[in-house]
Order: sequence, then structure tokens, then C-alpha cells
Amino acid sequence: MGEINRSQISLLQFLKNFSFLCTWYNLYDESILHINGHIMLTDTFGHTITYLRISVTDRCNLRCVYCMPEAGIEKRPHQAILRYEEIAGLVRIFAGLGVKAVRITGGEPLVRPDLYKLVEMITKIDGIDDISLTTNALLLEGQAEELAGAGLKRINISLDTIQEAKFAKITRHGSLENVWRGIEAAEKRHLAPIKLNVVAMRGINDDEFVDLARLTHQHPWSVRFIELMPIGNQMHWGEGFPAPKEAFMPVSEIKTRLEPMELTPVIRKNGSGPAREYRLKGALGTVGFISPVSDHFCGSCNRMRLTADGNLRPCLFSDEEIPLLPAVRNGEPVLPLIEQAVALKPAGHNLDQDETPARRKMKEIGG
Ligand code: GTP
Ligand code: 5AD
Ligand code: SF4
Repeated sequence: MGEINRSQISLLQFLKNFSFLCTWYNLYDESILHINGHIMLTDTFGHTITYLRISVTDRCNLRCVYCMPEAGIEKRPHQAILRYEEIAGLVRIFAGLGVKAVRITGGEPLVRPDLYKLVEMITKIDGIDDISLTTNALLLEGQAEELAGAGLKRINISLDTIQEAKFAKITRHGSLENVWRGIEAAEKRHLAPIKLNVVAMRGINDDEFVDLARLTHQHPWSVRFIELMPIGNQMHWGEGFPAPKEAFMPVSEIKTRLEPMELTPVIRKNGSGPAREYRLKGALGTVGFISPVSDHFCGSCNRMRLTADGNLRPCLFSDEEIPLLPAVRNGEPVLPLIEQAVALKPAGHNLDQDETPARRKMKEIGG
């Protein structure tokens, strides 16, 4: 069924209260709507869940200053992590509930062995028509072919700087050269569109915004500037870095750094995600802005997150999670747990009241 608007959702929820349209499962459930034989997951605020972000590991081959301490963090044992078959089983349930898009995240997802096998399993699931990956691309060159062959559609790549020395400083490891080779390999395998994620940081990469935006002149990429989110990164980042609060730049300020480049808005498509897109004159690609802090997009949020250790997290910024792993392993029903998690989805975040999630780091949630 196509996209529906807010007033239609209210009407449907009103009708649901009278049980006119409820057909299977539990007549009193709060979060599953049954409409003309179609099932949709909706929360109390009218968000319809169609997109699942799956973190397959919290391990990473980089140590970006805003994401992780230099020493890394404690590794979870293998048995505490969902197996690919278990993840695919859950995706099958979500697909039956109306989820159409899956994004694989980490940590760094490509450090988990044989990721293409998971992609292959998800590709075969009826109803999932968009399967994508967010990666730092260090290992992409060696995996792009098998990922594309397994059915991966598109790829988002973290790239905060295009200066080799600064890349090493921000990521504390890694070489920019590998990222360029990864991007090249992704292009060769038609993993498109390629989106580049730039976390904007005052005093760190704000001198490069124009150069980064200029990449879109020659390449059909989407370069997206993202506001730095205060998740597990408010401790000092180390020698030569500003305090995290000082590094934050709102999108309004990021845009002023791009003046006098002429940015023409690109018309948004339904479900086009959190970025507001623009095009530079004559450019092949687009420039996007993601403003989770200064102008959040929670009203149109369509996502849930599955952590590598099998918790369902309704909101990036809320520590509330429902564990699915025990039910999955004991063969117990998962559906009531999914409903519980959807019911916990908040209207939006409360960052303006200084409420930041404390239980997990960004690398454990996958952004
Ligand atoms: P597509 O729209 O599917 O291309 O993906 P995306 O842009 O949402 O995914 P990506 O993993 O590239 O994330 C880009 C940035 O958006 C990251 O900083 C994410 O943390 C952030 N982001 C993604 N989804 C959400 C969300 O639901 N809430 C908030 N606050 N930030 C999000
Ligand atoms: N704020 C904004 N974006 C972040 N990312 C990681 N940590 C943060 C943060 N604190 C981005 C990464 C990656 C995506 C999943 O999230 O750059 O591309
Ligand atoms: Fe959705 Fe939470 Fe992100 Fe807002 S902060 S867009 S509600 S995940």
C-alpha cells in the first residue's frame, strides 16, 4: 500500500479502536494495523515503521574521536551476538509487518566475516525492496563485488575529511587511500547512489566543507553534512581537539560556510530519509544536510534499530530497548516484543533538555 498521510493515520487508528479492520493476531494490540489485508506497524504518534537499521557488530577497524575511545571498548563474546540466520528470521517477521527497507550498519559492518551471506539472505525475503549499507569503506574494495552480487543496492560511506593527515588524526587509524579505492569499487559494481557522510566539526573539518561539496561537480554522489550528535562522545577527544560541545555546528552555520556556492533545493521524494538535498549549479551529485539536533525530523521517523546483541531500539536518542535475542533463541513469540518496542517509540527526542542516551555508544547503535 502506498504512503498515507497523518489524517489518514488518525482515521485508521480511530477505526482500529472499533476493531472494524482487525482481522488476525490480537484484537487489542496497540501497534499493528490491518488494512485491507495489509499490515502496518504504527506507534501512538502515527509513525509508520517501514525501515529497519541492523547493526551487525559493534567492532570497528577505526577509532573516530567522536565515536570511540582510543583503546576501543570491551568486546562482546560471539554467542551474545545475533547470528545471520537469526537476523534474517527477524527481518522476515518485520517484512510481514510492512518493513520494506533494511540498512546494515555497525560498528563497521564489513569487519564481520562473510557479510555478503547476510545480504543474500535478506535479498530473498519478500517485501524487502531496498537493502543498503553504511560503512567506513576501508574494507570495501575487497568486498564490493560479492556484496553487489548478493543483492546489495546502495552504500553510504563515512568521510569527514579529504586530507590524508587529518583523516589519520580523526580516525586514529586507517588510510584515506583505502576509502577512495572502496568508493571506486562500489561505483564499478553499480552500488548507487553513493552517499558520503561528513560529520561537521568546528575547528576540525569546517575548512573543508567547500572542497567536500565540490566533489559533487564531477561525481554523482550525495555529500551530506551531518550535525554532530551528543551520543557517548562528550568526554574530551584528545590532544589538539576542541571540546565536543564547541565542535558542534548547526546546519544553519554549515550552510553559511558554503556561501557563495549556489544551492538549489532538490524536491524530496517520499521516504527519502533524513537529509535535505540541494544541487550546485551544473553538478552531477547533490549536497545534503542532516540536522538531528537543531531541526529534528522525528515527526516523519519511519525507523527502528536492531542492535548486534539483539535488542530492538525504537529511537536513536532513547535508551529504551526491548531484548529479542532470548525469545529468538528459545523459540518464543517475537511479535509481542516488537509491538512493545513500537509502543515505546517517542514522539521525538529531548536533546534540547540535555537528555542524551547514556547506555550505548554510537558505534553500538550504528547511527
Ligand atoms: P538513507 O536515508 O537510507 O540513505 O540512510 P541514512 O542517511 O539515514 O543513513 P546513514 O547511516 O548514512 O546515516 C546518516 C546520518 O543520519 C547518521 O549520522 C545517522 O546517525 C543519522 N540518522 C539516520 N537515521 C536517523 C534517525 O532516525 N534519527 C537521527 N537522529 N539520526 C539519524
Ligand atoms: N553524530 C553524527 N553522526 C555520527 N556518525 C557517527 N557518530 C556520529 C555522531 N556522533 C555517523 C557516521 C556514519 C553514520 C552511521 O553516522 O559518520 O556515517
Ligand atoms: Fe527517529 Fe529518534 Fe531519530 Fe527522532 S531521534 S528521527 S525519533 S530515531
